[in-house]
Amino acid sequence: MSQQLRVGLIGTGRIGDVHARSVHAHPDTVLHRVADVFLESAQRVAGQFGGEATDNPESLFSSGDIDLVIIASPTSTHIDLIDQAIDAGIPALCEKPIDLDIERVDRLREKANASSVPIGLGFNRRFDPHFASVHERTQAGEIGQLEQLLLTSRDPAPAPNDYLAVSGGIFRDMAIHDFDMARFFIPEIVSVSAQGFNQFSQDIKELGDFDSTAITLRGSKDELVLISNSRHAAYGFDQRLEAFGSEGMLRVENLTDLNVRHYGQREVEARPAYQNFFLERYLDSYRLELEEFLKAVRGEASRTPTFEDGRMALVLANAAAESAVTGQTVTL
Ligand SMILES: NC(=O)c1ccc[n+]([C@@H]2O[C@H](COP(=O)([O-])OP(=O)(O)OC[C@H]3O[C@@H](n4cnc5c(N)ncnc54)[C@H](O)[C@@H]3O)[C@@H](O)[C@H]2O)c1
Repeated sequence: MSQQLRVGLIGTGRIGDVHARSVHAHPDTVLHRVADVFLESAQRVAGQFGGEATDNPESLFSSGDIDLVIIASPTSTHIDLIDQAIDAGIPALCEKPIDLDIERVDRLREKANASSVPIGLGFNRRFDPHFASVHERTQAGEIGQLEQLLLTSRDPAPAPNDYLAVSGGIFRDMAIHDFDMARFFIPEIVSVSAQGFNQFSQDIKELGDFDSTAITLRGSKDELVLISNSRHAAYGFDQRLEAFGSEGMLRVENLTDLNVRHYGQREVEARPAYQNFFLERYLDSYRLELEEFLKAVRGEASRTPTFEDGRMALVLANAAAESAVTGQTVTL
C-alpha cells in the first residue's frame, strides 16, 4: 500500500492500549490522533505509539485527516460516537458491546444500515486462530451436522468495581462475547434461558449483578449452545470451546505460552499456567480483527462483525438477563 491509513483512537484504557499497539505494528496504518477525556492517558499512548493527543474525542471527526476511527472508550459512549463517525463519513471499528440500551441502538439502526460508511464491531474472538479454525472446519462439514456448541468463559478475577458498576452486568459485558461466538456458529438463535448466580463476590452482589452464569440457547435447527461464565477462576483465564457434531467433535483447550510438560513423582503432565488474560490470550485476534476491518475501509469484502451483529448480541444478552430474573425461557 502506497499510503498508510491514518487512525484516530478514542479511549486509551485497557483495550485502547491493545488497539494502539496493533495500529502501530501494522505496516498499513499509522496512529494519527489519540483522544481520551484524561489527557495524560492520551499523551501516554501517543508518546508510545505516535499521534497527536487530545482530550476532545469529537475533534477527531472534524479534523479532516482521519481515515478510520477505533472506538475503545466506555460502552455508554459507543452509539453516539458511531453516529458521529457516520456523519463524518469515517469508518469506525467499535468495541463491544454496541451499547447497553437496545432502544438507543434501534434509533441508530436504520441510519447505520443505510450508510455506506463501514461500521465494525470488536468481536475479536471470531478472529482467534483456534476458534476460527474450528469454525472453518465445522462449516466444511468435518464434524457433520453441528449439534452442540459448548463455550466456557471465565475471567481470572473480576474487573475493578468502578468498571463493573457501569459495565451493564455479566450478560451484556462478559457473556456478550459468547453470544456473538454462538451466532458465529449458529446465526439464528430462537430461544434463550439463563440462570445467574452470586457464588463468591459480595461487591458484585451489591451492584445487583451476578458473578457466574449458566446460559442455554436453542438454534433454529434445534442446535444447543451451552455457555458457562464466571468472573473468577483460580487457575487463570479459562477460554474453551467445543463443537460437537454428528460425525465428531472439534475442541479448543486453554493455551500456555510454553507447551512443555513436567513429569515427576508428585505430578505428571504438568504444564505452565494458562495465558494470563485477554491481552495475552487474544493478542493475535486483535491484530487480525484490525486486518479484517482494513479490508472494509478499502472497500473490499470483509468478515468484520457488523452493526447488526452488535445489535443481535445485545438482544441475546437482554433475553438472558430477563430469563435469569423471571426464570422463564425467552423466545425471540
Ligand atoms: N474486545 C475485548 O476483548 C474487550 C476487552 C476489554 C474491554 N472491552 C470494551 O472496551 C471498552 C473500554 O473498556 P476498557 O476495559 O478499555 O475500559 P477502561 O476503563 O480501561 O478504559 C476506558 C478509557 O476511556 C476513557 N474515556 C472515558 N470516557 C471517555 C469519552 N467520553 N471519550 C473518550 N475516552 C473516554 C477513560 O479515561 C479510559 O482511559 C468497553 O466498552 C469494554 O466493554 C473490550
